[in-house]
Amino acid sequence: MGTVENIDLLPEWGLSEFNPWDGRITHENIWPIYRAMREQGPVVRSAALGGFWCVTRYQEVRAAALDHKTFSSRNALEIGKQNWSDRPKTRLIETDPPEHTRIRKAMQAPILQKRMNDFSDGVRESVTELLRTIAKKGEFDIVTDLAEPIPQDVVGRILGFDEETRRRNRELVLKFVHADLANSEHAHADFWAFLIETVQERLRHPKDDFLSQLCSEEVDGKRFTESELVGMLHGFALAGHHTAIDGISSMLRYASADSVKSAYLDDPGMGAQIVEETLRCDPPIHLEGRTTNADTVIGGVEISAGESVALLYASANHDDRQFEDPERFDVGRGPVQHLAFGYGIHMCIGLHLARLEMNTVLKEMMRSFPHYRLSAEPENSGMVFGHHMGWESMPASIA
Ligand code: HEM
Repeated sequence: MGTVENIDLLPEWGLSEFNPWDGRITHENIWPIYRAMREQGPVVRSAALGGFWCVTRYQEVRAAALDHKTFSSRNALEIGKQNWSDRPKTRLIETDPPEHTRIRKAMQAPILQKRMNDFSDGVRESVTELLRTIAKKGEFDIVTDLAEPIPQDVVGRILGFDEETRRRNRELVLKFVHADLANSEHAHADFWAFLIETVQERLRHPKDDFLSQLCSEEVDGKRFTESELVGMLHGFALAGHHTAIDGISSMLRYASADSVKSAYLDDPGMGAQIVEETLRCDPPIHLEGRTTNADTVIGGVEISAGESVALLYASANHDDRQFEDPERFDVGRGPVQHLAFGYGIHMCIGLHLARLEMNTVLKEMMRSFPHYRLSAEPENSGMVFGHHMGWESMPASIA
């Protein structure tokens, strides 16, 4: 853990140039940067990316996330003046009520907490199958061999994709998320075309599955348009992809420490706490954007209407006003109200599924390979797409 003084970026940025797209941000230097920002104030102005406000502390991040009337999500994936465009915003995460209410109601129906029993066998099957392959290899990569295949397989099953459609979906998602800037537009177009084709196919030939149900469903007397349906599939595929991969990988990194492993093996009931403490300490999503609809005051700072605001969920999770010794991974912390899944009306719809995936991986991993260990230094992704952080590679060995 670096100190504020030895972080190269701080003198250059001062405290007023925080730029989440800066490729020099690392898993090590981001925490002292956030700490310095929190010390400066609950809401800090950055001049980067054309200018935006950063909400840094837990209480203020939570308050802003709750106040969706003032803090609109219409530019949730864009910070400052960057990339602001007129492209259609059909993804749930970029909508405000009433549109948001309508789409969210339909999208979350199959993945509410009460439905998780329907999926637990499927998730366990996906995980144990991957562990069987890993058993034959001995040496493996937690990110690519274990975490990465899980989310698309699970989401594909929920939507009702057959095996071939799940395979294509995963292939196109991976092509897109691993594309460099020059190829990403092309990869995204291919993925989008596949989603349109999939929706059109179900509109023509409905089956007995959740995607067909979405295609024919009426919410508030209106059916979803083709573009809304494609936006929903896009949300299912992408919002739950890197987030779950990063959550699973970070968890197995923490759980490989002897103290955490023995806490679990002595009492497997600790599993849920290991999952939550991982999400608090190493949240996959670091920030999301908002745009003010009206002049407002937050943390004593006046913000005018039309300003770009970044809710720093990751910084909030490390706020020592809320969490004692926040940078320490502590499974004995007890229930924590972290903000890794956000808060308010945009709080993650996939949180029960993500928890199911993480808990299942932990349980099956500890059952199959209780002596697993990391065999080389993991490779962190740095900040990706200006808002999430995870792992490229995490070499491990089963014994
Ligand atoms: C560890 C895993 C995950 C983490 C940390 C995570 C985190 C988040 C966060 C922070 C938000 C709030 C965005 C905002 O405030 O603007 C969010 C929203 C969302 N998440 Fe997740 N997520 C995870 C897994 C999933 C999964 C598995 C799915 C779907 C299958 C999913 C689907 C969504 C969707 C559709 C939204 C938008 C909700 C809305 O705007 O109402 N997420 N997620």
